[in-house]
Amino acid sequence: MNNENLLYQTAQKAANNAYAPYSKLKVGCAILSSKDNIYSGCNVENISYPVGTCAEAGAIATMICSGDDKIKAILIYADSKKLIVPCGACRQRIAEFATPDTTLYLASPSGIKQKMPFKEIFPLAFEEF
Ligand code: THU
Repeated sequence: MNNENLLYQTAQKAANNAYAPYSKLKVGCAILSSKDNIYSGCNVENISYPVGTCAEAGAIATMICSGDDKIKAILIYADSKKLIVPCGACRQRIAEFATPDTTLYLASPSGIKQKMPFKEIFPLAFEEF
């Protein structure tokens, strides 16, 4: 299976396991690292709404605790007709471990809908000072 399909299936599976009883939006994220490993995460909501976490945060945490820290490609899948883009906080989270040319895929139940370099959605990242 090619990397795009693998990322898609992994993120879709993660989204199926998402805990989103409040927003009803199930999101999955899959990361391909520079070492060619795949990590995934889903959103985990909480009755105390701000305590909930995004799918990207979960996938990044898994990547880091597995000993990987460079994102070659990342796919965000949402179980929704409308295409979901990473929230502002998650763009900053991704930026920490991505490069401007990291590939970002946006996907829905009908497949991968957009592919772009990460810099397209986060052109002026806050960087080292
Ligand atoms: N969500 C994510 O998991 N990632 C994003 O980048 C955008 C939003 C989740 C958070 C919350 O559980 C639900 O989507 C609705 O905002």
